[in-house]
Amino acid sequence: MKSFIINSALDMHLHLRDDDMLKLVAPHMSKNFVGALVMPNLISPITTKDTLLSYKNRIKNACKEDKFTPYLTIFFQVDYSYEFLKDIKDEIIAVKLYPFGVTTNSQTGVSSMDIEILRPTLESMSRLDIPLCVHGETKGFVMDREKEFLPIYESLAINFPNLRIIMEHISTKDAVELLDKYDNLYATVTIHHLLLTLDDVAGGMLNPHVFCKPIVKRYEDRDALLKVALEAHPKLMFGSDSAPHLKKNKETSTGGAAGVYTAPISLQVLTQLFEKHNKLANLNAFISLNAQKIYNLKPENKVIKLIKKDFIVPKVYNYKNEDVVPMLAGETLLWSIE
Ligand code: DOR
Ligand code: ZN
Repeated sequence: MKSFIINSALDMHLHLRDDDMLKLVAPHMSKNFVGALVMPNLISPITTKDTLLSYKNRIKNACKEDKFTPYLTIFFQVDYSYEFLKDIKDEIIAVKLYPFGVTTNSQTGVSSMDIEILRPTLESMSRLDIPLCVHGETKGFVMDREKEFLPIYESLAINFPNLRIIMEHISTKDAVELLDKYDNLYATVTIHHLLLTLDDVAGGMLNPHVFCKPIVKRYEDRDALLKVALEAHPKLMFGSDSAPHLKKNKETSTGGAAGVYTAPISLQVLTQLFEKHNKLANLNAFISLNAQKIYNLKPENKVIKLIKKDFIVPKVYNYKNEDVVPMLAGETLLWSIE
């Protein structure tokens, strides 16, 4: 095949950041995607309507003329009232829950995953039909954090049967197996979890640019994720978790930040991956149609044509003082965007 059309691509898990970083990374997404679910973990997380609306404006400005809808989220708090959620409902697509301290800017995350503590907010969300996105990791051993969190997903799914719950960036075979067990459980998966294992992070020379939360895991985990992505399992959506950090904050001796930057390469990489496995026929479902059904979205039509032509991934993206290194920097991909 020499060309391939992607219709109205959606990224259901994206970090756009703010200020200069927002200006650098937003166009990488808005050029090729028709919309994205934008995470609320800014340095000061989004928890009010005012901060949400002003962030939306900054995103719109950064995307310039591109046909692109940012689907915004707010940061889960145990004390959101029903009235607050009702008032903000039309401005958000979901609420994102972070357990305290599990990843970047989650210091104001929930300190306990006790269902009774979370219940008031979750009941209101369930009544208002606002989906819940979850960063599902415990504070356990790094390779076991997602697996240890799975019983919490089960208890959420059982206690709130009318709440749509999205297991974000699933990274294990065990999470894949949970997907079909409860009608109200869904998931996103990233490119890096489909392509990499811990060997790529630390098996040879340390690669801080693919260090992320949850950490990429074993070959059997990657293969299980890849299988459901390639078949475009209807409860699974593409969510890049593209999470840019400054190069100097990744390549540092004082503790490198977690996050993989994939926004500028995701369509090319996914096309290459699905073609390699002879599954291009499922790519539009994985990257758009599944999300449309799960979130009831009706995105505008945006056609992106990929052509079979080498694309050399830039070594770095730069804006003013911001330097960001993408995944696969310097490598040659087989597909380009026309
Ligand atoms: O690796 C990650 N980076 N995982 C997350 O959950 C957050 C993200 C970020 O914001 O940098
Ligand atoms: Zn994320």
